Amino acid sequence: MSKSTQSWGSRVGLILAMAGNAVGLGNFLRFPVKAVENGGGAFIIPYIVSFLLMGIPLLWIEWSMGRYGGARGDHSTPFILDSMAKKRLWKYFGVFGIFTNIGVMAYYTYIESWTLTYTLKSLNGDFLGMDIAAVGEAFDNYVGISGGVNVPILALVAFTVTLVINIWILSKGLSGGIEKVAKIAMPLLIGFGAFLAIMAFTMGDTGRCADCNSLVGMDFLWTPQYDSLKNPKVWLEAAGQIFFTLSVGMGTIVCYSSYLKKTDDVALNAMSAGWMNGFVEIVLGASVVIPIAVGFLGLDWVKENAGFMMAFKTMPYLFDQWGHVIAVVAGVAWFGLLFFAGITSSLAMGTPWMGFVEDEFNWSRNKASWTLGIFIFLLAMPTIFFFEYGVFDEYDYWTGTVSLVVFALAEVILFAWVFGMDKGWREINYGADIKVPLIYKYIIKWVTPIFILVIFLSSLVTPKDNDWVRAFSGNWELDGSSIIGKMVHIGQDSSWFIDGQITSFFFIDMSRLLLLGTFIGLALMVRHASKLREKKKLKQTEEEL
Ligand code: ALA
Repeated sequence: MSKSTQSWGSRVGLILAMAGNAVGLGNFLRFPVKAVENGGGAFIIPYIVSFLLMGIPLLWIEWSMGRYGGARGDHSTPFILDSMAKKRLWKYFGVFGIFTNIGVMAYYTYIESWTLTYTLKSLNGDFLGMDIAAVGEAFDNYVGISGGVNVPILALVAFTVTLVINIWILSKGLSGGIEKVAKIAMPLLIGFGAFLAIMAFTMGDTGRCADCNSLVGMDFLWTPQYDSLKNPKVWLEAAGQIFFTLSVGMGTIVCYSSYLKKTDDVALNAMSAGWMNGFVEIVLGASVVIPIAVGFLGLDWVKENAGFMMAFKTMPYLFDQWGHVIAVVAGVAWFGLLFFAGITSSLAMGTPWMGFVEDEFNWSRNKASWTLGIFIFLLAMPTIFFFEYGVFDEYDYWTGTVSLVVFALAEVILFAWVFGMDKGWREINYGADIKVPLIYKYIIKWVTPIFILVIFLSSLVTPKDNDWVRAFSGNWELDGSSIIGKMVHIGQDSSWFIDGQITSFFFIDMSRLLLLGTFIGLALMVRHASKLREKKKLKQTEEEL
C-alpha cells in the first residue's frame, strides 16, 4: 500500500495515455502482417469477434480492477489481485502483470530505437536512390546480421538513448511525463498515419505489374472471407493480435487505472480507448504498409514476403518511388509515427514496476525509474547481441504472447468467479457515463473465460500441421509451434553444440532461463513485500492495543 498522490491530470489526457498504451507497433506492423499471413480479409471476422467477446470485456475488467485496487492504495497487479481474493496465491499470478511488461519492454524499446534511428536516417536522405536489396542490406548491417555474434554499435547507442528518453519521461510521473507525451504524440501519430493512408489511397494503379495497385492491397485486407471461420489457426492468430494490440493481459491497463479517482468512469473511458485503438489499427494500420507495397510490388510479392521487417527493409525503397522529396517526408512520417506509437506503449510498460516498488518498498520515483532502466538495459542485451539466433523472437513469444493469455485467463476467473460477477458488474457500472449492455454481464462470466481457455488450450497442444480433424480423430501429434512443442523443441535437433559450434538453441534456451529467472526474482520480491505488509499490519495492531 502506498501514499501515492499521483493521478491523471485530465480525462482527455487519461484517454490519450490509455489509447497510446494500446496503439503501438502492433497496430502498424504486427496487424497488417498477421492479416496477410492469415488470408487478408479472412482475418477480419475472427478479429472483430475476438474484440467484442474478449477485448472489450477484458478492457472493462482491467479498468475496474485497477480503479478498485487504486482506491485501496495498490498500484501493482500482485496486490490488486490479492485485495480481490481471499486466497494468498493470487498475488503470484499478479507477478505476470510486472514480468510481462519488463520482458516486452526489453525488446520493444529496441524496435522503438530502430524507428528513432530510421526517422533521422530518412530525414538525412540516407535511403534515396537505393534499390530494394541495398535498403535490406542497410538494415541487416544496422542490427548486425552477418552470420555470427555481433556488436551493432549504432543500434546499441540508439537503444541506450531511447531507453534513457523513456526512463526520463517516466521519472516525471503520470501527469508531468506520460500524459504530456501522449497529448503530443497521439495527434501527431494520427496525422502522420492519415497522410500515409491518403498517399496509399491515391496512388492506385502504378502499372509496375499486372496487379500493382494499392487498392488491390486494401481489397485483399478488407473483403471478409467466411470460410476462415472454420480455421482454428486464424482464430488463434486473431485473438493473439487482440491481446497484443489492446495491451490486455499485460497489466499496464490495470496499473494505469489504479491512478483513477474512486468515482471516475471506467465504462466509457475503456470503450473510448479501445475503439480509438481499433480505428488506428483497422483504418490506418491496414492502409499503409500492405497497400503501398502491393502498389509497387504486387500482391503475390507481398503474400510471399510479408513480415515485420518490411517496415525497415522495404518501406524506405517504396517511398523513394514517389520521388526524393516525398520520400523524405514519407520516411519521417512513417518512422516518426512508429516512434510515437512505440514510446507511448513502452512508457506504459514501465509503470507496473514503478507502481510496485513505490508502493511496497517506498522507493522514490527517481529510484524506481532508473532501476527499471538498468534492469531493461541488461535484459535487452541478449536480444541485441544474439538477435540473429532468435533470442528476440523468443522474448516476444513467451512474454508478448503466452504470458498475456495466461494472465488474462487468471484475471477473468478472478474477476467473474472469485471476486464475483455481481460485485464485478457493480464495479464496472459504478460512476459509468454509459449504460453497459446487460448481456456483457453474461459474456464476462461465461463467454470470455471459455474463449480464453479454449485459446490457451489450443495453443498449448496445437496438433501437427494444424490438422484438427486428424487430431480429433485420435491422432493427436503435437506441432512444433504449440506451447509444449516449443518448450521441448519438438521435431528439431536442439543440441547446443554441433561440430564444436554453438547453435541457436543454446541462445534460445539461455534466454528462456533468463526470463524464468526474472519471473522467479519478481515473485520473490512479491513474497518479501507481502511479508513486509504483514509485519506492518502486526505492528499497527500492537500499537492500537
Ligand atoms: N499494444 C501495444 C502495441 O500494439 C503493445 O504495440
